[in-house]
Parts: sequence; structure tokens; C-alpha cells
Amino acid sequence: MKALKVLTGSVALSCLAAVLALNLAPVPQAMANGATAQAEKKSGTYEPSVGQEGKDVVWVPTAQSLVNKMLDMAKLTPSDILYDLGSGDGRTVITAAKRGTTAYGIEFNPDMVELSKRNAEKEGVSAKATFAKADIFESDFSKATVITMFLLPELNVRLRPTILKMKPGTRVVTNSFSMGDWSADQTESVNEDCRSYCTAYLWIVPADVGGTWKLPHGDLVLEQKYQVVSGSLKSGSNAAAISEGKLDGDQITFKVGDTQYSGKVTGEAMEGVARTGSGENRFQATRAK
Ligand SMILES: C[S@@+](CC[C@H](N)C(=O)[O-])C[C@H]1O[C@@H](n2cnc3c(N)ncnc32)[C@H](O)[C@@H]1O
Repeated sequence: MKALKVLTGSVALSCLAAVLALNLAPVPQAMANGATAQAEKKSGTYEPSVGQEGKDVVWVPTAQSLVNKMLDMAKLTPSDILYDLGSGDGRTVITAAKRGTTAYGIEFNPDMVELSKRNAEKEGVSAKATFAKADIFESDFSKATVITMFLLPELNVRLRPTILKMKPGTRVVTNSFSMGDWSADQTESVNEDCRSYCTAYLWIVPADVGGTWKLPHGDLVLEQKYQVVSGSLKSGSNAAAISEGKLDGDQITFKVGDTQYSGKVTGEAMEGVARTGSGENRFQATRAK
């Protein structure tokens, strides 16, 4: 896998993705090309090259129009804390900071970190945009409410267990690449000023709801696959399957027969409203140990 890191040109990531998809060994020529793609330092000014080597993935910048779209999809606000994992030249962090958000970039390449700091300075957002030279796999980004990434599918999947332990409602937006069998909640593409890698995916970290929940009128048994919820409501000897079960962060919705449940999950407690026709009742449930 390490040899895959070195590719060159604007097609670097697609070559990389294609190689991964086909599960082929990378060709030596690609490595040779990569050697010529190293960034040059000219009289103290660092100029990165698209496709230059990175620790786990090469550098290809996200088109500014897609950066804007990604932050729109995350519904970024000034009260968010954004982390861009593998922050490149800092463009996503700087764009977030310009929207008033406190934003952090984690980037392994020290030259890119210094470049990002200079870019933030030029844009007048140094106070809100912070960059660290670090490995994303050894970094703590648990305080993030929004995560952005332009990595590779296998790297996204490596990060997935950590992301799923984050606070429900945390938004994750990637450029182009999936999160394995965790389906995206939203997909958007841009056409303007973008020739490749023009699609973004959003995921919302779901609350953990698997288990048996005690309701006054029975046991709600929930099974969960990411944001999709299934299971049944057991009352005495009757069991009714739940349908349309879904999580949006800590908000759960599901149906049992004609009754629509909408609630909020807070750790081991769930509360909300059950509606049948025009009737409405509040419900509370506690997860059984
Ligand atoms: C495809 S670029 C994306 C840059 C930026 N996020 C953007 O969207 O424009 C991926 C970046 O991740 C960095 N990177 C690769 N592996 C890394 C790692 N393990 N830790 C931190 N940064 C890494 C690379 O140096 C590169 O700048």
C-alpha cells in the first residue's frame, strides 16, 4: 500500500482509486512519475504540485466550488468546530473560518502546514484557522462537530469506527469517496469550476439505539445498521414489526402499524411523541441493561 502513495498529475486520485478498485499492484512507472512530482522549493516559496506524495494519499485539492457545497451540506454555523483530515493547502479550513467557524486542519506534510498558515494569514482568518502537522490516524479530533475529508475509501473506512463513536449529530462530508457499507445521507455534485472529484457525500453520526427499550406498554426491541433501524414492539404475547425506522443524529423516527413515533435519544433514555391519526401521546423509554 505504501508504494501507492506516489502518483502524479491531476488524475492521481483516480489512478489510485482505480488501482484500489481493481486490486492491482501499482506499476513501477507510476512510482517513477511520482518521483518527478515532488514539490519544489523556489527561493523560499513552497509551491505544491498536484499529485505530490502524501503519507497515505497524494495531494489533490478540492475545487473551491465543491468546498463551498460541502460546507453547505454540513449546514456549517459559527458555533461548529470543523476538522479537515488531511488539510492540504488549508482551503477547506480557511473557507470554514471565513464563515465564522473555528476550524482545524491536520496535515502530515510540514510544508503544506506552513503554506496553509500563510494562506490563512493572507485571508485574515488566522485566529479561527489552526493547522497541525500530524498523522490523522494518531490525532484527537473528538471535539469536531463537522469533519471534512478528501482521502480514499479504505482510509475513510479506517476512520469510521472513531467517527461512529463521536457525538450523535456530528456531520461528516467527503469529497468523492464512500464510507464502505455506511450509506450516505445526502449526495450533491457541482458543475461550476470543477472538472474532477465534483461529488460530495454527507453522513450524520447516528445515536446508538440497539437493544431493548422499556415502554409503559411493552418492550421496543431495536436493531441498528448505522442510521437504519428495524425491530419490533412486543406487548404481552403480541409483537408488531416496526417500519421506516431511521436516525438523524439523536432523532429517531419509526412506525408501528398506524402509529408514527418521533423521539430524541439521550444515552439510555428516549422520549418523544407517538401520533395515531389526529391523536397524540408523549412516550418515554429507557434502555434495559
Ligand atoms: C487529496 S488531498 C486533500 C486536501 C484537502 N483536504 C482538500 O480537500 O483540498 C489529501 C491530503 O491528505 C494528506 N495526508 C495524507 N495522509 C495523511 C495522514 N496520514 N495524516 C495527515 N495528512 C495526510 C496529504 O498530504 C494531502 O495533503
